[in-house]
Amino acid sequence: MKQPFHPVIGIIGGGQLGKMLIESSLPWNVQYNVLDPDANASCKAYAKTFINADLKDKEAIFKLAELSDILTYEIEHVNTEALLELEQQGKVIIPSPKILRIIQDKGIQKKFYLDHNLPTANFSLVQKNEEWEEALSQIKGEKVVVKLCQGGYDGKGVAIVDRSEILKGKFPFNGPCIVEEFISESREIAVLVCSNGIETLTWPCVEMHFDPTLHLVDLLFSPANLDKATENKACNIAVAAVKALNGKGVFAVELLLTSDGEILINEIAPRPHNSGHHTIEACITSQYEQLNRILLNLPLGNTDLVKPSVMINLIGPDNISGNYKITGLEDSMTEPGFYLHLYKKNETRPGRKMGHFTVIDDSILGAKNKALKIKNTLKISAI
Ligand SMILES: Nc1ncnc2c1ncn2[C@@H]1O[C@H](COP(=O)(O)OP(=O)(O)OP(=O)(O)O)[C@@H](O)[C@H]1O
Ligand SMILES: [Mg+2]
Repeated sequence: MKQPFHPVIGIIGGGQLGKMLIESSLPWNVQYNVLDPDANASCKAYAKTFINADLKDKEAIFKLAELSDILTYEIEHVNTEALLELEQQGKVIIPSPKILRIIQDKGIQKKFYLDHNLPTANFSLVQKNEEWEEALSQIKGEKVVVKLCQGGYDGKGVAIVDRSEILKGKFPFNGPCIVEEFISESREIAVLVCSNGIETLTWPCVEMHFDPTLHLVDLLFSPANLDKATENKACNIAVAAVKALNGKGVFAVELLLTSDGEILINEIAPRPHNSGHHTIEACITSQYEQLNRILLNLPLGNTDLVKPSVMINLIGPDNISGNYKITGLEDSMTEPGFYLHLYKKNETRPGRKMGHFTVIDDSILGAKNKALKIKNTLKISAI
């Protein structure tokens, strides 16, 4: 790093992940430029320059690049072509947009796992509606998982459906999809991996419990309830996947642990992730600080877990849209080891991630009990 130490990082996307990335380096002399289509994006108040533009706006991305020493992104749905062009011109972009090109499309991503002998659920590609019958014939089970190849996030763009419904002509999505074997009774775990191109580290496994209707994480805990051999196997698969991608940055590898102990890659996010929020308070180095270290060409920090932790997302309830308040804060704040993060979103919407909290405790059971108690207290409420 050149002296004086006052670099400018450009972030494409200004949501909560960007906000926590910036917050983790507030004690450092780092500045951030942010590009986001929402004029009230979570990161806006922190930005040196805030560019209010579409994530696909090439001109705006080039402007961000001009104003910044290094670029990163906190969302996958960006203009990859523009980033590839910038990278070719010598701009440092971490992770490389070549990785985004693979990850942005679930069909290409799944094929990447197959080509690199990385374990993943069986799948078939569906480009047009006439291809459903043939695609379904390759996949076992009455229930199947259909995923839009592009544009899905937070479970939107994923449908678990009966094959008989599809064969009757009820197509879950229009546009290219993958259809995947439904892994029943699986557990969901994730391994966060970081690499500076020389050294690659993992954080201890996290285990997730999902809301079955929203497909959103509603409780996440670390350490995961795994034996040492399974934990090692999960970490090895995650590291192998990031190495196959030639990945520099922070990556979340979402895994499915089948009932017979097999570990399958569900998907990879090439950025800090919901499954790593707890690292802010529970680990020596958070996923956010680590990405800053990588962006700034500083040594990686230790990823050990300091205390067992539970993270719960604060999700906009079904019956409120627009203005909101947080209730139950006073009672929650009396719990030792409770940490709140609010995302500065002006309006709530059903299913929207409005914030999260982490609870750390000496035992995982203690952390879960406290977190569930707070979940019943702390609410997004109508004004
Ligand atoms: N093959 C599968 N078998 C069983 N469940 C699955 C399978 N694939 C996905 N799921 C479930 O659907 C959820 C969402 O799938 P996926 O992660 O691919 O979508 P997403 O929209 O990218 O979600 P997110 O942004 O929340 O990570 C998974 O976390 C898991 O609960
Ligand atoms: Mg996912």
